[in-house]
Amino acid sequence: MPKYILLLTGMFITLQSPVFATEVVDTTLQGYQSQGAGEFSVDAGKTLWNNEIIHSKSPVTRSCASCHGNDFNTTGKHIKTGKTIKPMSPTANPKRFTDQEKIEKWFRRNCKWTWGRECTAQEKGDMLLFLSKQ
Ligand code: HEC
Repeated sequence: MPKYILLLTGMFITLQSPVFATEVVDTTLQGYQSQGAGEFSVDAGKTLWNNEIIHSKSPVTRSCASCHGNDFNTTGKHIKTGKTIKPMSPTANPKRFTDQEKIEKWFRRNCKWTWGRECTAQEKGDMLLFLSKQ
């Protein structure tokens, strides 16, 4: 009996997490549209993700891939601290995009660090859609 319950709990968690990520992504995207963004595009998100910026504070170009890499199924490496960053793909990392506050916090930090400014609602939506499809 206890084993049966454990098994059921396990199945519940496995089945629930990807659904949850999708819901959080949808809500977040709707939020960006209510802030004035239009339709979102995976292609636009990909271009933005790989956009290389010459930052005033750095001799090396910066892009989102600088830390997260371009293989969304493997870990990235923080360009400054060397710390490992978990995969960005929600398939490889079921905890990805399950918390709207976390998404916003990191968009704010990373856009500023990488591009020297905050991302617009349109840019965030395009990149989030692109990432969520990986
Ligand atoms: C200097 C290193 C660095 C760069 C460059 C960087 N990030 Fe990140 N990013 C991180 C770290 C560290 C985390 C938090 C750890 C984690 O979520 O695994 C994170 C988390 C995120 C998250 C949160 C994901 C979630 O699970 O909710 C998003 C979204 C994100 N980054 C987007 C971007 C975008 C867009 C860019 C480019 C504009 C970018 N990042 C550039 C280091 C970076």
